[in-house]
Amino acid sequence: MVNQTLDKISKSGGSVLGSSEPSAVDKLETMMALSAMMNSALEKSDVRERAILAASNLVNCEATSLLFVNEETGGLYFDVALGDAGKELKTIQLERGQGIAGWVAEHNKPIIIKDAQQDPRLYKQADEKSGFYTRNMLCVPIRSNTTTLGVLQALNKRNGAFSKEDARLLFALANQIGVVLENLRLYDGLRDTLYSVVGVLVDVIEKHDPYATGHAKRVASYCKSIGKGMGLSKHDMVNLKLAALLHDVGMVGVPDAITHKKARLTEQEHSEVMKHIGYSEEILSNVKHLQAIIPAVRYHHEHWNGTGYFQRAGERIPLFSRIIAVADAFDSMTTERPYDLGKGYDGALKHLEDNAGVLYDPDIVNLFVNSKAPHSAKRHPLLIQRPKV
Ligand SMILES: [Fe+2]
Repeated sequence: MVNQTLDKISKSGGSVLGSSEPSAVDKLETMMALSAMMNSALEKSDVRERAILAASNLVNCEATSLLFVNEETGGLYFDVALGDAGKELKTIQLERGQGIAGWVAEHNKPIIIKDAQQDPRLYKQADEKSGFYTRNMLCVPIRSNTTTLGVLQALNKRNGAFSKEDARLLFALANQIGVVLENLRLYDGLRDTLYSVVGVLVDVIEKHDPYATGHAKRVASYCKSIGKGMGLSKHDMVNLKLAALLHDVGMVGVPDAITHKKARLTEQEHSEVMKHIGYSEEILSNVKHLQAIIPAVRYHHEHWNGTGYFQRAGERIPLFSRIIAVADAFDSMTTERPYDLGKGYDGALKHLEDNAGVLYDPDIVNLFVNSKAPHSAKRHPLLIQRPKV
């Protein structure tokens, strides 16, 4: 319903409601659709563009644009400006307080301008650059809890002048945009904190297991390449990166005598090492924001043919686990250990290809082998260094 309403509006170029004033029901429907979309689509880069397009429908005007405050200068720049003039407008930077938008940002309140050309605050260069003639304007501030983030402006009401009702509607939308931007900022902050904590955890693992130096970061970089090749969403890419970095976090529970051993492991020691899967699960289950990656970590030692640790096969193995398995195997095979000089670059690729559809997901092997990732890995200096013990 939400997407249907917005699609209808955006595909029509913002004119689905026609040049006549939209009805109250139309306005309410558009407003609800916009709110739902903005609250649920934190990752979509076109959210703001679609919202602005729909906003021009809401107040029935010829053009709408969104300007943000430059935190360093206090000036404004165009984030979204639609139509033929949009490209030109995006090159314009307003100084602090400049133009009607600058006035709104400074005073933090909505304004209706009935005759823009007579208003000395109008930044006429914008019209000159874009070839757009501004007759009248409605400008509202976009605010977060503590500051003005930008300005939403509607230009040239199709029938007559902007009303107080238009101002209320646009202001409500601007408040919604403010909330979404604040959530995005919090989300980015949270993600940065999570990456820092994960970085510390990875350092702890690598201190504990000297042969693992750089392993998690290299596996994460190979996974990134595979994930990109598969066209994973931004959200999935974040989780894949976290899962790759933490896939062996449980190694901290394996005794030093085993992780530091300079000779090949016995069968008994190997089964001790495999307990790291359970330890990983235990550690991750204590972190609320890492719950989603637990299955990826739990099944990263599965084989495509079902002969792995939990004997899951094929697509019953979570996708991220299958990706990590390929990346993990390639890195292990191209890293020297005191008891094993590794297979080298060509040997590792051959092993992956020989075992595609046996140990590994054949599509993922195909994607990885034909990507740039293993080629850049060849030049990675860490790969030819014996880990320091
Ligand atoms: Fe592992």
